[in-house]
Amino acid sequence: MRAAVLTGVGGPEQLVVQDVPEPEAADGQSIVDVRAAGINFADVLIRLGMYPQMPELPAVLGSEVAGELDGARVMGFARGEGGGYAERVAVDRRWLLPLPNRASFAEGAAFPMAFLTAWIPLTELVRIAFGARVLITAAAGAVGTAAVQIVRALNGKPIAAAGSAEKLELPRSLGAVEAVTYDAIGELEPVDAVFDLVGGEIFAASLSLVKPLGTAIAVGYAGGLWADVSPTWLVGRNIGVHGFYLGRLLARSPDLVERAAKDVLRLWEGGAVRPIVGAEFPLEQAGDAHRLIEERKSTGKVVLVP
Ligand SMILES: NC(=O)c1ccc[n+]([C@@H]2O[C@H](COP(=O)([O-])OP(=O)(O)OC[C@H]3O[C@@H](n4cnc5c(N)ncnc54)[C@H](OP(=O)(O)O)[C@@H]3O)[C@@H](O)[C@H]2O)c1
Repeated sequence: MRAAVLTGVGGPEQLVVQDVPEPEAADGQSIVDVRAAGINFADVLIRLGMYPQMPELPAVLGSEVAGELDGARVMGFARGEGGGYAERVAVDRRWLLPLPNRASFAEGAAFPMAFLTAWIPLTELVRIAFGARVLITAAAGAVGTAAVQIVRALNGKPIAAAGSAEKLELPRSLGAVEAVTYDAIGELEPVDAVFDLVGGEIFAASLSLVKPLGTAIAVGYAGGLWADVSPTWLVGRNIGVHGFYLGRLLARSPDLVERAAKDVLRLWEGGAVRPIVGAEFPLEQAGDAHRLIEERKSTGKVVLVP
């Protein structure tokens, strides 16, 4: 079968379509015919050799897919080592969800990672009271657009921040009540919570906006690693900082993730949220798809179609 293989650490040209052996299903796994594969920012970090848990290369990346299994339309996570950028992939049946009726495969491939990464921390780590102001960084991206819609669905007020003025239109159209570029974050009124996908200086700047008894959740470090936050500073300001990492939760708290997946799928089926597909590329252009994300030109989820 065909797959986009990451042949080594480096630029987008390291992603090359090759013939590879068919995947084999272990216990609890099934082989899904992939119709669309989601690209995650972590895949870009792996290609650049910057991910903490690097796979052995060459490897087929791709941790989430939508496709067909015995005639049923499904979406879900590929097994631990990935393999989604391919015509077929082994998936853990535990992590398969039915694709809603009218949804496209591309939307299915854009759903599991982005919506669980937004839903679990925004429901388990903070309490979003009616009208709560929640700042979301990288708000035009895959996880960011999910978070904006989820905060709105929870009756909070999403406040979007992104890297350019052009990117702000998308989160605005999804319900953000305010939208600013990062250089204007300091001018915002205080917020009840921060959902941060950027890390580095943006995370540090967003902490100063959190109201007493508010919370900042560190989720991503697309813009640089986090500086240490001192408990002394947190105590003095009456604020909390949480970290969130879905990968570890899938391994350590699968029941919680399973319940969350059903809850957030119901939100989609009920029309309160929907995955945003920003671009679709054939497998042969996996490198171009990576480049779009790496150069910060993507919005929503970027999806590969085998
Ligand atoms: N903890 C978890 O479990 C978990 C799960 C999924 C994703 N994540 C993390 O969440 C973040 C968002 O993931 P995603 O897949 O939805 O990606 P994405 O937001 O669609 O794309 C990454 C975005 O990060 C922003 N960014 C800021 N500084 C950047 C830089 N120096 N280089 C590249 N991008 C930069 C860009 O938006 P602007 O131009 O608007 O800044 C870019 O579009 C990533 O950091 C990812 O690793 C974490």
